[in-house]
Amino acid sequence: MSITVYVPRDSAALALGADRVATAITAEAAKRGQPVRVVRNGSRGMLWLEPLVEVTTASGRVAYGPVMPEDVPGLFDAGFLEAKTHPLHLGLTEQIDYFKRQERLTFARIGVTDPLSVEDYQAHGGFAGLKAALGQEPAAIVESVLQSGLRGRGGAAFPAGIKWRTVLGAQARQKFVVCNADEGDSGTFSDRMVMEGDPLLLIEGMTIAGLATGATQGYIYVRSEYPHAVQSLQLAIRLAETAGFLGDDILASKKSFHLEVRKGAGSYVCGEETALLESLEGKRGIVRAKPPLPALQGLFGLPTLINNVITFASVPFILSQGAAAYQDYGMGRSRGTLPFQLAGNIKQGGLVEKAFGVTLRELLYDYGGGSLSGRPIRAVQVGGPLGAYLPESKFDTPLDYEAFAKAGGTVGHGGIVVFDDTVDMAKQARYAMEFCVVESCGKCTPCRIGSTRGVEVIDRIIAGQKRDANLTVLRDLCDVMVSGSLCAMGGMTPNPVLSALDYFAEDFGDRPASAPGHE
Ligand SMILES: Cc1cc2nc3c(=O)[nH]c(=O)nc-3n(C[C@H](O)[C@H](O)[C@H](O)COP(=O)(O)O)c2cc1C
Ligand code: SF4
Repeated sequence: MSITVYVPRDSAALALGADRVATAITAEAAKRGQPVRVVRNGSRGMLWLEPLVEVTTASGRVAYGPVMPEDVPGLFDAGFLEAKTHPLHLGLTEQIDYFKRQERLTFARIGVTDPLSVEDYQAHGGFAGLKAALGQEPAAIVESVLQSGLRGRGGAAFPAGIKWRTVLGAQARQKFVVCNADEGDSGTFSDRMVMEGDPLLLIEGMTIAGLATGATQGYIYVRSEYPHAVQSLQLAIRLAETAGFLGDDILASKKSFHLEVRKGAGSYVCGEETALLESLEGKRGIVRAKPPLPALQGLFGLPTLINNVITFASVPFILSQGAAAYQDYGMGRSRGTLPFQLAGNIKQGGLVEKAFGVTLRELLYDYGGGSLSGRPIRAVQVGGPLGAYLPESKFDTPLDYEAFAKAGGTVGHGGIVVFDDTVDMAKQARYAMEFCVVESCGKCTPCRIGSTRGVEVIDRIIAGQKRDANLTVLRDLCDVMVSGSLCAMGGMTPNPVLSALDYFAEDFGDRPASAPGHE
């Protein structure tokens, strides 16, 4: 009987040689006459251990990692097919501390199953949510999403059920469901991991959204930097159609939902929902003024439900296990779980799905193991390039949308970028402002011109030219950007700039004389 060996197909693992490892295992097994079945799974999210190879045993899957192609003969010699010991032996995968202490609702299958097997997907609970939704009225589906407390995972944390209800209530000949898979935030990769590691989950979530809102056509807008995600989504769409879960007359229900993938062209602002719609329509990605809301007048002027990948991917659990089961996790108004992503200068980078309420300190030290350099962690940017830089004094703040905002932070899409004590926060502030210069869509003046002037002012402060006067100008400029920008690109760029100034004033030369508090 052949032994099943898992080698991830996730692009983080591929970048580290997973394809070559898979080939080496197949070749070595053939050479030794040992029957092996290699399954290409998603990643378990422990990226510092990639490529993480797993062997199936009677007591569960046993992990080895990180495995290089040249390790493969030695693994066979050591008897890894019988899960014997070896310097790369990590024990039962699900007993690895980093993994064991997570609360994986959305990522329950990722790394476990073959992402391109409908059979494997169903064997692990897949399509149970869709089947439940097919037996319900649209309003009942929307009610479940509302009751679950699910909020948008793309950044703004708007209650998903309210948006779904608005699209359901809109009257039109055609409605759309659009998935925002632009994932432009620094240090984020949870959307990519879903699309590569469990694409049928996103397809199921979007199909449920179609049934709930009356939309029969969906688009997944994926950033062009994600070729593996595009490929797995396209294959998974075909598999779902062939198996009757997508397309016309889903599971003989007389209900239809069609899905297509569209690639972006590499622009941060195209992650903003209205710029995304412009881009989907084939135009340059420029932000639209709101109202009208996309829920009422979105793609081609028709009612459109736009949600992030993780938002849609959270829905099948809610439909199959019930809104209350999802509500059980989290704190305050932040219900459920969030897949946090640890990146930057961190020893154990990767994905940690936890209920809201976990603290930054737990994520950074209990999961992340501290900085990769071994030096003290000095600053952390949470929530992408528009999030504040937080000092150590904020590390005990629970990651809950409201509590975190009160402490001056943004949970956003859950990306956490870590810096040690060698970071120059004045350069980081300049970088944040320059990011806005480069990525601004140009529609409004505070963002387009303000960010360029902002870089010049920060340069003068760094150079020590009329520091106090220029600090006043910088704060005034940030005020104008916050209150005068059309979207959060210009409106939130002051977050990283001012937090750097407020929490790390020493990096800007003399401590600013009369800096008001940032919070
Ligand atoms: C400049 C900018 C970039 C954004 N980038 C993304 C992105 O990459 N992915 C995403 O899901 N939302 C992004 N958003 C948020 C979207 O505008 C929108 O709130 C989200 O797609 C709604 O989905 P949700 O409610 O499920 O979060 C961005 C917003 C702004 C202002
Ligand atoms: S704030 Fe910037 S990105 Fe947003 S609409 Fe204005 S110019 Fe465009």
